[in-house]
Amino acid sequence: MEMAPNKTLIYPVAAFLSSFRRRMTISSLAMLIALLCLSSSATLAQLATTPPMGWNSWNHFGAKVSDADVRAAADALVATGLRDSGYLYVNIDDGWQGKRIDSGELTPNERFPDMRALADYVHARGLKLGIYSSPGAVTCAGNEGSMGHEERDARTFATWGVDYLKYDICSYRKILDRDAHGDPEVAQRMMFAVFERMNSALRATGRPIVYSVSQHGLSRGWTWANQAGANLWRTGDDVRDNYLSVTEIGFAQGGLSKFAGPGHWNDPDMLEIGNGGLTPDEGRTQLSLWSLLAAPLLAGNDLSTMDADSLTILNNREVLSIDQDPAGRQGNRLWTEGSLEIWARDLTGGSVAVGLFNRSQGPTDIPLDLKLLGLKNATKVRDEWQHRNLAPIQGSRTFRVAPHGVVLLVIHP
Ligand code: GLA
Repeated sequence: MEMAPNKTLIYPVAAFLSSFRRRMTISSLAMLIALLCLSSSATLAQLATTPPMGWNSWNHFGAKVSDADVRAAADALVATGLRDSGYLYVNIDDGWQGKRIDSGELTPNERFPDMRALADYVHARGLKLGIYSSPGAVTCAGNEGSMGHEERDARTFATWGVDYLKYDICSYRKILDRDAHGDPEVAQRMMFAVFERMNSALRATGRPIVYSVSQHGLSRGWTWANQAGANLWRTGDDVRDNYLSVTEIGFAQGGLSKFAGPGHWNDPDMLEIGNGGLTPDEGRTQLSLWSLLAAPLLAGNDLSTMDADSLTILNNREVLSIDQDPAGRQGNRLWTEGSLEIWARDLTGGSVAVGLFNRSQGPTDIPLDLKLLGLKNATKVRDEWQHRNLAPIQGSRTFRVAPHGVVLLVIHP
């Protein structure tokens, strides 16, 4: 699916063109150029206005991903209804690359016989295609990276019809170790430069390509990656398919909210729901926490074989609409005691999403005191996993929360 033209910008341009035919002056030419520049920067600024949603091949298929796996994921997004819930990006991670041929062009390996045809297949289903590379000479899985070939590779990706690039630091870390001599400021400047270089290369193609910077949280990427052109940046290490990893990463995201907003998001890494290592309660915990964090939601499982519980979790539109709230205000931790946590996120229209998390191994009562939210009463209380309205709250209420589980509410004052 291609970017929809922006009517509010096209109509003034069209009106101007008709008057332009009547009398062309230097000043009208200057105005036309200004309008065209405005139109192009507005299109780019529209990228990732809400956190990107979709699928990524890495967590399940690893470096052996194939064209057939990607097509199957695209088909499954359509068949399961996940596309219609907003999961639009079909992202090929590490493992697609073949050789860089003499002309300098990076070609896919034998598992990807025709990238342009694959992009067409994905686009024909109303989806978008993502790809992966590295500022290093080789990627984390040892494939060819983009170092020294940034402009060429960006043009190749654009020609194929790519809509999203994950650019992963990988072997560039060795160069940082070698040249930054342990100086964090130098390391940050070097990283900024390589990530910005690919950003400029992508923008020079003229194709709107979402830019995902994957520097594993190094050099506090949230403080500079947006200026380097990133629409999202990793805030930490790789997520693994178990509750400990998901929660260690997820609950470490406190304090980062001021760095996120429309067009620029903190990325705590992909979803593990449906990969077998999380119980349904643990899967609900990941989706709830990631939605409170306004995190990108990239399913990382085999969508064509997932069980019913995983699909129900991934496809909970009430929860997804918290993640996709247009104001894009990332949530924060409000309270913690032992293994219990309360996180909240302000939503458009004055309501608040609240997650009560039980990280312990037994069912536990969690008290929600509305003073935490600056409220006395809640007139409407919606349980986002039970899909039902609860009685209004006056002052406070205690909720029983399952082990490794969550109660996710949307509260209207
Ligand atoms: C790094 C990234 C992962 C994945 C692999 C691919 O570890 O953090 O998300 O892209 O590389 O090799």
